[in-house]
Amino acid sequence: MHSDIIVLAAGKGSRMQSGQAKVLHKLAGRTLIQHVYAQAMALNPRSTTVVVGHQSEQVIKHLGEQVRYVHQETQLGTGHAVQLAVADIADDGVVLVLYGDVPLVALETLEQAVNAALAEKVGLITSVFDDPAELGRIVRDPSGAITRIVEYKDADPAQIALREINSGIMAVPTRALKTWLTQIRPNNAQGEYYLTDIIALAVADGVKIEGILAPFPEDVTGVNDRVQLAELERVFQTRQAHALMRGGVTLADPQRVDVRGTVNAGKDCFIDVNVILHGDVTLGEGVSVGAGTVIIDSIIGDHTEILPHTVIEQAVVADHCSLGPFARIRPGTQLDAGVKVGNFVEIKKSHLGQGTKAGHLAYLGDAIIGADSNVGAGTVTCNYDGVDKHQTHIGDGAFIGTNSTLVAPLEIGDGAFIAAGSTVTVPVAPTELAVGRAKQRNIKGWVRPDQRKGQ
Ligand code: UD1
Ligand code: CA
Repeated sequence: MHSDIIVLAAGKGSRMQSGQAKVLHKLAGRTLIQHVYAQAMALNPRSTTVVVGHQSEQVIKHLGEQVRYVHQETQLGTGHAVQLAVADIADDGVVLVLYGDVPLVALETLEQAVNAALAEKVGLITSVFDDPAELGRIVRDPSGAITRIVEYKDADPAQIALREINSGIMAVPTRALKTWLTQIRPNNAQGEYYLTDIIALAVADGVKIEGILAPFPEDVTGVNDRVQLAELERVFQTRQAHALMRGGVTLADPQRVDVRGTVNAGKDCFIDVNVILHGDVTLGEGVSVGAGTVIIDSIIGDHTEILPHTVIEQAVVADHCSLGPFARIRPGTQLDAGVKVGNFVEIKKSHLGQGTKAGHLAYLGDAIIGADSNVGAGTVTCNYDGVDKHQTHIGDGAFIGTNSTLVAPLEIGDGAFIAAGSTVTVPVAPTELAVGRAKQRNIKGWVRPDQRKGQ
């Protein structure tokens, strides 16, 4: 049997007070709709349809052609939205309705709902809220069976007192769904076509409603404003922090690490406070990540120590390196084992061989450096001539003196020495010493400007 997924995302989201579509606001570095889309994909559906309305162009541009779109020009209600989307879906399956602004539903919960629909029932995901506010209430009969959903605005005081709520997420056999949708009417307080009305219609047809209680209320909490967005962000971050700790990572404070992507970490890593891990990050075993560090789409080898306030992006760092504090490792950088990169060193698209050190205040761009070389403080590779980028090649065991200016393209051989303060423009052969600086002149009898007056 097939499942088809419908994602509702036509609503205005006016409480976000934003020029951007609500579902494009980000949670943990990914848009709300990306979270929902990822869940949909994990269920391996036959098709995915997104119902768009307000700011539809933004949503379509963002999600691209991987899904089918249905335009709901005027938002006449959730029932109307599903009716538009289901029209082109084949009858021989089940439909799962997701909300574009409900990002944290567990996959197993969704699977339970789909399985209920595959068994010719309606799978309805519910939750129990301490304060259900204006959410739809689940009405059960004395035997405990779900009989209908009543919307807050249509509820009587006894129904308002109910604390079990409708998440809005449900799975329904497609053929029956289509029939029930033709029977719903906007005879309610809001004058809308309520998707929720199909529950009573299903019961009237003798179809059982399987209520699936989401394990946590946050799983089914929707985002209506930025306060709720921040609350869900915290929930999500706490869950990820717990997963990291259970996997053998020590966190200085689980409330002060942010994972915006996927982290694979070996055993006995330590992550200090205010670290952001973005995209795909791999940490080997025993990696230590200092406070305020940002790592984006990078691989860090075993026992590498990253000191505070280091930024690493699209880089591959081998074992036993030491980076920072305040180092910036930019895309395309590869650091071999035992490399040391100290404070205020920026490295871009460069390869540093095993054991090479750049301890302080340097810029290395488009540089290929061998093993066991030393790059002195203030060294700059002049890799850009205003039009093109050029490479600097430095061999093994070279010594680049303090404040060297290396004008690329340039070759510096194994074991070469560059005198401090040199501007190097021509190749340096292995073991040669290059001295590229003006000779110092000391002027006798020179008078300071502030002492020249009156002379
Ligand atoms: C709906 C449910 C309510 C449930 C709540 C959970 C109905 C009638 N009520 O409430 O029982 O507790 O969700 O959050 O279904 N949307 C469209 N087109 C429309 C209307 C809505 O695409 O015409 C989309 C919205 O963008 C949103 C979702 O459907 O993603 C829910 O809409 P919203 O207005 O927030 O739901 P409520 O009516 O408040
Ligand atoms: Ca809502």
